[in-house]
Amino acid sequence: MNNGQKPRLLIARAIFPQVIERLQQYFEVEHNQDDVMWTPQQLQQRLQDKLALFATPSEKIDAALLDACPNLRMLGLMAVGFNNVDLSQATKNRVMVSNTPDVLTETTADFGWALMLAAARRVTESEHWLRAGHWQNWRYDSFLGVDLYRSTLGILGMGRIGQAIARRASGFQMQVLYHNRRHLSPEQEQTLNARWVSKEELLKQADHLILMLPYSSATHHTLGAAELALMKPTSVLVNLARGGIVDDVALCAALREGKIAAAGLDVFENEPRLLPDFLSLKNVVLTPHIASASTATRQAMAMCAVDNLVAMVQEGKPRNWVNPFSA
Ligand code: DGY
Repeated sequence: MNNGQKPRLLIARAIFPQVIERLQQYFEVEHNQDDVMWTPQQLQQRLQDKLALFATPSEKIDAALLDACPNLRMLGLMAVGFNNVDLSQATKNRVMVSNTPDVLTETTADFGWALMLAAARRVTESEHWLRAGHWQNWRYDSFLGVDLYRSTLGILGMGRIGQAIARRASGFQMQVLYHNRRHLSPEQEQTLNARWVSKEELLKQADHLILMLPYSSATHHTLGAAELALMKPTSVLVNLARGGIVDDVALCAALREGKIAAAGLDVFENEPRLLPDFLSLKNVVLTPHIASASTATRQAMAMCAVDNLVAMVQEGKPRNWVNPFSA
């Protein structure tokens, strides 16, 4: 704060009005309630006099932007994933970056099950068919799907959300296998009734495979043609994590050629411009990055991002600081 002035903050996208009201208590706020999609240059221009940015997964906070905005010191992301931020450049430039973990765990896990069930039981495909007026009669073989009950659930990436997904599997009496760099403790494995297996084993054994890895250059195209070829032709793939973890071209080919049965996807490479192939495939359920989108959870995420920004002003650091550095 300079001369008793409040620090300046930019809100990059439209947001709940109560977020603006709360931030205005601590910052001089410029908002974007018309939800104009600023170009990187426009964002850069608006950030020139700002100390803080309230951002979403849509903004690309890369090295060029960070270098071009020397006054920027605080970034409050309304997301748990922060792959849209060049973290090492932010650290170099002494920009504190915060995210919103925990508050979205259960809602996102719920949505994983929604996508898994919808893809396995062909919910959206059959609904489109019905709405198009094709339903004449009951048939023994209408929209035959894949069971979840007593099948094998594979979870690739066993962090908070992966574990919340696993907790829900007991109601379906599923066997839970997981792969993660770090093994869970024996107690956690016992509670979740989950067993660590190699990635290859996971791909081969899972009837339903959920991806819950963070995106980075190390996880880029974790699932490509070779990995998809290991999966069962009856298996269902769900990606809730980030586009880029799956090679979308390879996935479209696998879905088209029946190498896997179906997929449920909430995230895509280059979203929101997804591959046209996805739109013509019937065995894929597509949603627009809404896994955390319940009213309560999106409000909690927004308020968590606000709390982080306020803590940066009041306590010198955010609660959920993803690139801690010393003063
Ligand atoms: C996150 O928090 O990273 C989600 O993808 C945004 O909904």
